[in-house]
Amino acid sequence: MRKKIVAGNWKMNTTVAEGIQLTKEILLETNRIPKGVDLVIAPPFTHLFPVSRLLENQKAVSLAAQNCAEEPGGAFTGEVSATMLASVPCEYVIVGHSERRTYYQENDRVLLSKINQVLANGMSLIFCVGERLEDREKDMHFQVVASQLREVICPLDPADYQRVIIAYEPVWAIGTGKTASADQAQEMHEFIRSFLAQTFAEAAQVTPILYGGSCKPSNAKELFSCPDIDGGLIGGASLTADDFLAIASSFA
Ligand code: PGA
Repeated sequence: MRKKIVAGNWKMNTTVAEGIQLTKEILLETNRIPKGVDLVIAPPFTHLFPVSRLLENQKAVSLAAQNCAEEPGGAFTGEVSATMLASVPCEYVIVGHSERRTYYQENDRVLLSKINQVLANGMSLIFCVGERLEDREKDMHFQVVASQLREVICPLDPADYQRVIIAYEPVWAIGTGKTASADQAQEMHEFIRSFLAQTFAEAAQVTPILYGGSCKPSNAKELFSCPDIDGGLIGGASLTADDFLAIASSFA
């Protein structure tokens, strides 16, 4: 059985006080979530430590960071290392989000270094892939996603691969209100799973593959009912406890 995961990516939103409040609201209602669904929240760096204290002594909600440095430590002003994140403790780190690829020019080499840091520090990885609108219009979406996986996920040691979660996020759907149709998403998720199976064989059958891009309470049920969609990476709708929990309750 594959893990079902709904992860909230708060991006650069909320103050520390607001983040603590949102976490408390989520924790109060985790009994609404169906058994077997794991919740993950990814607040900004400044919130991680106080939020981690709230998450002690419970298992329903895990903590993720949105990014980490590619270097292990040292004179890199403003960066946050994977070792620091593991010491919070964070369980997951998001790597390869399209906003990082686009606004901070994170290429495959940088992403591979970050992934190695995450895995070397014992955390799990939420690795984002997805095509831009022009790629889809040129019918290049499968090639683009295959290349994103080939360069940074396929080189991983099979033992480390157990800690990889994939998030398919078509760039044209992120924060735009446009969602991929359930058919478009399922088609890509199935492609990703079979592509990964060429390298990781049976292990690819249990890799959680999350959908991201304007996922909300009104469309989560249809998306999550697809056989290869194992949950969601939620941006805007994860900033409201009610919407986030409603999405997480959308599994059949
Ligand atoms: P969105 O963001 O849900 O606001 O579209 C998703 C993401 O970027 O992870």
